[in-house]
Parts: sequence; structure tokens; C-alpha cells
Amino acid sequence: MRSLTPSQSSSPRPFHYLEAGAALRCGKVSLELLARRYGTPLYVYSADQIAERLGLFQAALAGRDALVCYAVKANSALAILKLLAGRGAGFDIVSGGELERVLAAAPEAAGRVVYSGVGKTAAEIDLALTAGILEFNVESEAELELLEARAKKLKRVARFALRVNPDVFADTHPYISTGLREHKFGIDIRRAPALYRKASESRWLEAHGVSVHIGSQIRSAEPFGAAMERVARLVRQLARDGIALKAVDAGGGLGIDYHAGKFDPAAKVAEYAAALETALAGFEGRLLIEPGRFLVAQAGALVARVLQVKQNGKKTFVITDAAMNDLIRPALYQAHHEIVPVKRRAGRPRVVDVVGPVCETGDFFAKDRKLAPVEPGDLVALLDAGAYGMAQSSNYNTRLRPAEVLVEGGKARLIRRRETMADLLGPEIF
Ligand code: LLP
Repeated sequence: MRSLTPSQSSSPRPFHYLEAGAALRCGKVSLELLARRYGTPLYVYSADQIAERLGLFQAALAGRDALVCYAVKANSALAILKLLAGRGAGFDIVSGGELERVLAAAPEAAGRVVYSGVGKTAAEIDLALTAGILEFNVESEAELELLEARAKKLKRVARFALRVNPDVFADTHPYISTGLREHKFGIDIRRAPALYRKASESRWLEAHGVSVHIGSQIRSAEPFGAAMERVARLVRQLARDGIALKAVDAGGGLGIDYHAGKFDPAAKVAEYAAALETALAGFEGRLLIEPGRFLVAQAGALVARVLQVKQNGKKTFVITDAAMNDLIRPALYQAHHEIVPVKRRAGRPRVVDVVGPVCETGDFFAKDRKLAPVEPGDLVALLDAGAYGMAQSSNYNTRLRPAEVLVEGGKARLIRRRETMADLLGPEIF
């Protein structure tokens, strides 16, 4: 079997061509067949790869009490949440809505939920307190006061962690970098001891842990280690003050390789885990991590049909039936996604722009990309679209959002049907 990224021990993607004339497959299932059965644009995910990635983190942290809390925002499909919960994952949520999803998919996992986010409402806090989540990651002094007030009202002790801002630079896109003092996230790490001391006076607040999240799509382990060292220093200082934290939450952010080169996920996870463990040497408590992208991005592809191949002067545009509303990452972050034909044609690659039908110049998936030859009617797969793809989709241009399919072993099943116009028009009043 030929992988799309050959010559490595552990293939980073579950999408393969079996032989020259055959269609691209997800595991054992042909994407051509899935497109015929469910239509396009279509999100296809490999359950096996998601489970494998979770296993990499769990194995790498097996030396201590650790919990992998999947960042629901990356892909909140109920079937994926259920799959992960069944394998022992916890969840990192950032809204009451995400908590409702976890409770719907895996109610037994409520006690494995950490709740992050800079703007929690009283109603959301109440929902989480009632559900008995593991920890609130508190992002400001005012939020800590609100949490205390709600806990008192509901007569439930709130376990909290302060999300500290370690002032560490992470080399990633500015929109998804979060660990500098100038960002809106977290509490200045220098202010944290005073807040923990203040909280210790309340019978409704339990100082359970400390959390940090420095950004997303961070390729090197180094900034994670640097942030964790600062957090470990804080934990030691608090212990000296008589505040013994039970858990450290290292956040998410480990990046993948969106390009076609070599990438060894197992080695990446091992390197990441080692950086955290080195920084946390001597800390006996629990380690939580919140990976999103690393678990689901490479497991997913967005399958689209080519509507037209259009020539405008010197430029060639491949127009697909998927658009920026289905996958906004290229438009929003200038993100790169590999694009491959589902069935390869003979002929030379062409330099093209791959675009969608939405009425915006920003509606593109690739610019000046060397693409294998495609014709109208062909299928293409946009790779590494499992994270922040469907989760960030919209109905812009009154486009129905794609269906989603999960491939498990040799079997594919629909996990979300394509939207209908009735779904869209239903809430409107006129
Ligand atoms: N924990 C917290 C508190 C977060 O804010 C995030 C992501 C994660 C965990 C998960 O990060 P990950 O492991 O997935 O990198 N839409 C952007 C990414 C936004 C990330 C926001 N926070 C993208 O498509 O690149």
C-alpha cells in the first residue's frame, strides 16, 4: 500500500491509494464510493486514526496519573466525542454548548471535563457545576468571584485552576498564539499566588490545579517545556505557602505537519511528553493535557467535486463544490492543506488556484498550487481537515453544511447528515 507521504514508520494520514488506477481510500473504504453514497462536499474521518493518536498520548504519559482532555472545539461531532470517551479521554470545553455535547455523547465523562474560556456566563457555570466537572480553568479575578458566587448559590464546591499566562512566545500564526502577556488569555503568572491565597479563604472554592495554554499549531516541544517550567515554579512556590495543587493542565497546541513531507506523530508526542515531564520533575500530582488538532486533524479529509476548470488570462482556477464556509482555514489563517485527486489521471501537474463558489476573493483553498490534473466532475480530497474544519463551518451564502462520515475498520457510517433547507429556514420568522 502506498502512503501519500511515503518512507516513514507511522503514516501520518489514513488516506491511501491502493494501486495506480484506484480511488483514494480512507482505511479500506473508497472515497469515490462515499461521495456517490453521501454526496459532496463530504467530511470523512478515520476513527482508527483518532483512536491511535489518543493512544500515543496515553502511552507517552503512562508513567504518571494523566488525563488526555480532548479539546472539543477542534471537532465536536458527537460520534467522535463518544469514541474518545470510550477510550478513557476527558474533554476540554469552552462553552456550555460544548458541555451539552459531552453530556449527550458520553454522560459518564462529565467528571473528566475541564472548562476553559475567557468569558463564562453564570448560566454556563451553573450547568458545569451541576454536571460535576473536574475543573474550571479560571481566566480572571472577576471570573473567580463569579464562580464563587455561583458555587455558593448552588451549594457545590467548585474545583478550579487558574489559567496563568506564562509570557512565553510560541512560533505560530498570530491569531492562534495565546501565551504572551499582551493576549487576552489567562492571568499574569505573577498575580497568581495572591489569587490562590484569596481563594483559599472561601469554602466554595477548591484550588485544584493550575493551567496554561500557549497557543495552537506549535511544532516544537521547546515552548511547551518553557511554559511548564514556569508553571512548575509556581506550583513549588504555592506548596511552600501551604497550597498543594493536585493537577497541572498543560493545555493543547501540539502541531502537525500540513505538508506532504515526513512526519512521525509518535516521535512528536514522545518529544512533547518528555518536555512536559522534564519540567514537572518532582511534581507528584496529575497531569492534564488538552490536545485537539493533533488527535483529529490528519484523520479527516474534505471531499469535494470539481465543478469547473476555468481559465482567466494566465491563471487557471479549479472551482470545487466545497467553499470557505466548509473549511475556512486557508482564508482565515493562510493555512496550507494538501489537495489530491481522489482518482489520479495521467498527465502533468498544472499550477492552479483551487477555489470555492462563494462570492469572495478570499474563498480559496490553494493559490498557485501545483496540482495533479483534474477535470470537471472529478473528486478531490483536501487533507488534514479533521480539525477546525466542520467545527468552523458556516452557512454563508446559504450553503448547506456538509455531511460527515466516520470510517471504522472496513466500515463507513454517516455521523451527520447533510443539512437541508428546512434546517436552515426553520428558526427564521418573517
Ligand atoms: N485548550 C485551549 C484552552 C485552547 O484554546 C485550544 C485551542 C486547545 C486546547 C486545543 O488546541 P490544539 O491542540 O487544537 O492546537 N482554529 C484554529 C485553531 C484555534 C485554536 C484555539 N484554541 C486553526 O484552525 O488553526
